Amino acid sequence: MTRKGPIYRPTRRTLLGQLIATGGAVMGASAFPRFSIAKPSPVKIGVILPYSGTYALLGNAITDGMKLRLDQQGGEIAGREIEWHVLDSEMAPPKAPANTRKLIGRERVDFLIGPVHSGVAQAMVKTLGNRQSPLMIIPNAGSNVLTRGICRPNVFRASFSNWQAAFPAGKVMAADGHKTAVTFTWKYAAGLQMMEAGREAFEQSGGTILKDITVPFPDVNFDAAITEIASLKPDAVFAFFSGGGAVKFVKDFQAAGLRDHMGLYGPGFLTEGVADAQGDAAEGLRTTLHYADGLDLPADRAFRAAYKAKTGREANVFAVQGYDTGSLLIRALEAAEGDPSRMDDMIGALETAELVDSPRGSWKMSPAHNPVQDFYLREVRGGQHKVLGIAEKALADPGDGCSLV
Ligand code: PHB
Repeated sequence: MTRKGPIYRPTRRTLLGQLIATGGAVMGASAFPRFSIAKPSPVKIGVILPYSGTYALLGNAITDGMKLRLDQQGGEIAGREIEWHVLDSEMAPPKAPANTRKLIGRERVDFLIGPVHSGVAQAMVKTLGNRQSPLMIIPNAGSNVLTRGICRPNVFRASFSNWQAAFPAGKVMAADGHKTAVTFTWKYAAGLQMMEAGREAFEQSGGTILKDITVPFPDVNFDAAITEIASLKPDAVFAFFSGGGAVKFVKDFQAAGLRDHMGLYGPGFLTEGVADAQGDAAEGLRTTLHYADGLDLPADRAFRAAYKAKTGREANVFAVQGYDTGSLLIRALEAAEGDPSRMDDMIGALETAELVDSPRGSWKMSPAHNPVQDFYLREVRGGQHKVLGIAEKALADPGDGCSLV
């Protein structure tokens, strides 16, 4: 389903087009009264995010964060109103090519925002191919290749790479004294890449991975895996789950009694946005992420208050990524004076972007178009992700194989 903004106002250019199409026959002043040439047409923003299933809470938080940022601009960018074209990704990579074509071909969007899921992202970027427009901003999906082997001049990420999110957590697991671990995740690009990065860090610190266990995405029947983990008796489990699936896994892990026998680590997605729903089962979990609750930053305090006032919900990393996506949209279109066909100006503005006022703390864009940012060590206390310190300062994804680097 496409939710379209109701606004249509002819631009100077469409008006000129009508005049040219009629051979100038309507050139008299009487042709003008219905139109105002002062107000440009809306800018079209296409969105592909999950609004159903296990990642629905992520899609909603990203959307709300992005809209909050644009509301702060009076709902306009560079003097242009916004026309939204929003699709549910259904977290389904096979649906991504048709959804992408619909937005860029039929709706002719100026910007493409999305997605959450790494497999959907890879399919979207492949569908974009070598097209030089629209400008795509990824507000979550971490697939490493998006800012490595298949990076594109007009594709930027406002979130993280899967490597970036998991590498610091593997180090923490080793630093906490664990020698053996089992990895456990959904079997798709994000989970697999995060487990690989966690393994890399853990092994570098002298740890041993006993086994990699997976379940299909987005299954939440973890019983067989939990039984196997119990029998392997590792010092710790390194896991990636997120959204609804993370609620279920963290609760199952505790209900099976494993919390008493082994550690549980992973990128902060394990508890992010869901610690309340996990309750006691999340207490004390230590993870790493490019966000935490209670960062002592004026920009974060203001953002959290505004997000709470707008949505009635607490902010989380997904809302922050949406908010920063909004900031990047504004920067790009303002640099192009409201004209998205000035792609070089938009790309230039994002390549040099430094978001000093991001709620996550200041970050800048890498040459491969991925954030260079701090990763915090957090611990869940009373349902909040308390900052224990910075696990990795200004961590950059290696960007291997990106032709822009
Ligand atoms: C991804 O598929 O890239 C992904 C999804 C959810 C997360 C993080 C990464 O929380």
